[in-house]
Amino acid sequence: MEPILETKKLCCTYSVGTPFEHRALIDVDFRAYPGEYLGIIGHTGSGKSTLIQHLNALLKPSSGQVLLHGEDIWANAKATRMARFKVGLVFQYPEYQLFEETVYKDIAFGPKNMRLDAREIDRRVHEAAYFAGLTDDQLQKSPFELSGGQKRRVAIAGVIAMGPEVLILDEPTAGLDPVGRESILRNIRQFHDAKNATIIIVSHSMEDMARVADRIVVMNDARIPLQGTPREVFSHAEELRAMGLSVPQITQIFHRLRALGLGVDESVYTLKEAKEALLALKRRD
Ligand SMILES: Nc1ncnc2c1ncn2[C@@H]1O[C@H](COP(=O)(O)OP(=O)(O)O)[C@@H](O)[C@H]1O
Ligand SMILES: [Mg+2]
Repeated sequence: MEPILETKKLCCTYSVGTPFEHRALIDVDFRAYPGEYLGIIGHTGSGKSTLIQHLNALLKPSSGQVLLHGEDIWANAKATRMARFKVGLVFQYPEYQLFEETVYKDIAFGPKNMRLDAREIDRRVHEAAYFAGLTDDQLQKSPFELSGGQKRRVAIAGVIAMGPEVLILDEPTAGLDPVGRESILRNIRQFHDAKNATIIIVSHSMEDMARVADRIVVMNDARIPLQGTPREVFSHAEELRAMGLSVPQITQIFHRLRALGLGVDESVYTLKEAKEALLALKRRD
């Protein structure tokens, strides 16, 4: 399958020629495939936010290319504009960027800029609110009457309302409690399943990505040293530890059980698998 989004030898150097010069991306070859649910994981400062800001043409490469459907997004002004519409980006802590008087107007801001007619804007606002887990009666409220988690949902709805083919979210669960995290991830999953959209989630939580992602891209020091299915990635426990990352807790437990001499599969990474593996072990006794 052809990637929907691809980078070729993408490099980003910040503050060139100053004492603060910093190479944030070095020869990055990244790929996202149509309809996949991709997790980007890495410790703080590894280059995750820098990478995703290149994917919707917010940042221009220092060198290298970004391709959307095989076309360089910087080839001409039209291609750049298309990338900004087709690739929706939800920033980290987007709730600080709400500014309209009502939730409705905030969600409608993007579609309005796309010069859609009023009916279509209205349809999109309601649909996006639904996917983001907001109720209709919240639409006429001021965003400032809402809780932090609800405000974040408004910001997510605003990007969904633009009808992106690729939805990228930078640490969408940061600062939320476990229930809020679970709920936001479930909403994003529903949007993915309903629209067959490509989802790219930046996270530093192995636990979250283990549960939701089809594939994981690991970033470390401006590069992608590791990528694959969660099972493939978590089989590199030592390398992950060296990068300051860890495998999910449940995988750690299975590594321990194996070290203790129990014949369990160490590639377990979800609770469901763990339960099955333990039941199988019990049956064998
Ligand atoms: N606007 C900027 N100017 C200079 N350096 C930056 C800028 N943004 C990020 N950096 C640096 O680039 C590196 C990667 O940052 P970032 O992409 O934000 O990483 P992450 O999202 O993985 O935490 C970090 O060392 C960061 O300090
Ligand atoms: Mg970041």
